[in-house]
Amino acid sequence: MRKHAGDRHDAANSGGPAMDGLMKFLHLFALMLGAGAGFGNMMVAMQARCAGGAPPAALLGLRPLFGRLGLAGIVLIWLTGLWLWIADYDAAPLGWAFVAKLAVAALLLAVVLALNAIFARAARGTPPPAWAPRLGQSTSVLTVIAVALAVYVFG
Ligand code: HEM
Repeated sequence: MRKHAGDRHDAANSGGPAMDGLMKFLHLFALMLGAGAGFGNMMVAMQARCAGGAPPAALLGLRPLFGRLGLAGIVLIWLTGLWLWIADYDAAPLGWAFVAKLAVAALLLAVVLALNAIFARAARGTPPPAWAPRLGQSTSVLTVIAVALAVYVFG
């Protein structure tokens, strides 16, 4: 029979309630890392625009740091999310909104990997493409959509 988010079982397969609580905590902690990185990157882009002329190197140096923070966040969210899905729901289908959340999370992973590649090339002297700031801004929008879908499915 098809499962729903309400069919969550009581952590029997998952190494107990403490492990389950830890994974859920890490899932939300990873969300904080990702959101912090996304908004931080947006602030850097705003300040760089205000700088008039070449932005200070110390400001641009924040971009790869936020890029790595975002990568750590999205990788951790995938690892803990897969764990929770398998342990609490036996990897059962949970409906269209869960599929949409996974699609948004996959897109977010691809965008964060692309940003990290752009920042790495910028460090070697290739200037980022003109559309890179838009790609950076999309991470916050995608994160907000994923949170809304998660609350719709599990809230
Ligand atoms: C950007 C990506 C993601 C965000 C922002 C996100 C956010 C959230 C949030 C806020 C909740 C708590 C919802 C609530 O209890 O009302 C949640 C729960 C959950 N997420 Fe995610 N998530 C993401 C990716 C994933 C992925 C990739 C998976 C699985 C592969 C996943 C699986 C789950 C599961 C199974 C729960 C329910 C946990 C439980 O109550 O036992 N999430 N997520």
